[in-house]
Amino acid sequence: MPHEAQYPNKLATAQAWQTLQSLAQPPHSTDIRALFEADPSRAARFSARLDDLTIDFSKTAIDQAVLDALQTLARSAGLSPFRDRLFEGARVNETEGRAAMHMALRDGRAAGLGADTATGRDDASGIAADELAKMQAFVARVHDGSLVGATGLRFTHVLNIGIGGSDLGPLMATEALTLADGPILHPRFLSNVDGLGMAAVARDLNPATTLVLVASKTFTTQETSTNAHAARAWLVAALGEAAVGQHFAALSTNLDAVAKFGIKPEHVFGFRDWVGGRFSLWSPVGLSIALAAGWPAFAAMLKGAAAMDEHFRSAPFAENLPVLLALVGIWHVDVCGYRAHCVLAYDDRLRRFPAFLQQLEMESNGKSVGLDGHPVQHPTCPVVFGEPGTNAQHSFMQLVHQGTSVIPVDFILAANQDHGSPDAHRILAAHAFAQAEALLRGKTLAEVEAEMRARGVSDAEITFVAPHRVFSGNRPSITILQSRLDAFSVGRLIALYEHKVAVQGCVWGINSFDQWGVELGKVLAGNLLPDLAPGAPPGAHDGSTNALIARFRALRQEA
Ligand code: F6P
Repeated sequence: MPHEAQYPNKLATAQAWQTLQSLAQPPHSTDIRALFEADPSRAARFSARLDDLTIDFSKTAIDQAVLDALQTLARSAGLSPFRDRLFEGARVNETEGRAAMHMALRDGRAAGLGADTATGRDDASGIAADELAKMQAFVARVHDGSLVGATGLRFTHVLNIGIGGSDLGPLMATEALTLADGPILHPRFLSNVDGLGMAAVARDLNPATTLVLVASKTFTTQETSTNAHAARAWLVAALGEAAVGQHFAALSTNLDAVAKFGIKPEHVFGFRDWVGGRFSLWSPVGLSIALAAGWPAFAAMLKGAAAMDEHFRSAPFAENLPVLLALVGIWHVDVCGYRAHCVLAYDDRLRRFPAFLQQLEMESNGKSVGLDGHPVQHPTCPVVFGEPGTNAQHSFMQLVHQGTSVIPVDFILAANQDHGSPDAHRILAAHAFAQAEALLRGKTLAEVEAEMRARGVSDAEITFVAPHRVFSGNRPSITILQSRLDAFSVGRLIALYEHKVAVQGCVWGINSFDQWGVELGKVLAGNLLPDLAPGAPPGAHDGSTNALIARFRALRQEA
């Protein structure tokens, strides 16, 4: 039996952590610039490829000793058996007793993937293939006009009502797949329970040509339920009760609740509990993507994700992109102490990618208790944030370059563009590379002073201003570069981060697939809601909450 099968090997794991910590201490150098001086070709050694996709992590303080230690850590934490169990469809989501088998949605029936459930074993690939075929047929009928609205008009808009994983993934992917060529059906996403969203939908969309998708894994989420009922009322007011069947579809695992809402069975697309909410864009929850971008694009996205699955499953750790991305992240969080992580996609089509990653990474790994029930020994998920480059450069990048916290950045870029403006794309790329270079290189006081002197600036002004123009440099980044951002590479990129998150969860010894941390707020909101009603007796809350509720009610003008 390989030693990894002792899952996890606590002693070896503790030793690996110790080794890693020692590698961040002198005489070991963690100055990235010194590492480049010692080995100018380190970009080749500290990068990995899958076809046209390159991950360059040479602009981090990782050398061979660190990389070896990180892989030892992964092995002793049981990454190999964890990965096997993940792909076997074992119930790796132990606290909910569920598998995490979203991979079955992207590799076709022949992949033969299964998933353990509370009552037996699902033919996950078969179930996924059947549901995808049903989705494809539905999309074809909408696109060819054989399925039309209640008044006989063709659907021109698709309104996706959902939140969290039932919103962020479809929204992000729909933009990624349609911004270049425009959508087939115009997508619209309604997530927040703020009534302005529905008011804007009512103002902007024509109910007669709108197809409404209610996307909710549980079909119990208050925000989605409130918005779905508001959309139903809007549609019924315009077209009558009988139109609901024609205009609504549901994407859910809770088929009983869907039936109660009154959605006709042919418009119900189900999936199983082995697809987590934040991994559900590949499932029927992705119906809006296929309706907006077309089935070929949706299918290509699935293929791209499947290619990453195969790579993650089979590549040795030293060449495995998700594993390397995860391990570099662990080095930054746990050894270097960097508690935030920035993602800058130099592509407007990925403008919602950071928002998607916020849920993927922070809902998955924002945990402080390990699977053994004890507090974790090491910091887990950093704060993830981002914006499209170059916009970010004109807002928060000041802090990333000169702030007191070091924040590693992922730069994401494609070599080719799809908008016919090669010059604009070259400028965009120049900014991406230059940001990473600036973070690495920095600028010394001597350089600043010499530059100012050459411009004829007075000594007094140099003394005053020069310190403010110094960049410490030695700030790490990873560059993710690929040939083109198309549906295939979008799927591959998303799956890259999904597996990164799973690897990190395994090494941290936490469950990446549950999200108990969102529950308390939901329960308290339910308790608190009646206390906001006019004339309600005071609730039993802390002093601050009681006072705020009282003030809210005093300010509120309500009949
Ligand atoms: O509250 C968090 C969460 O459960 C997410 O995990 C999920 O993506 C989101 O709510 C929406 O849940 P549902 O799809 O069941 O409406």
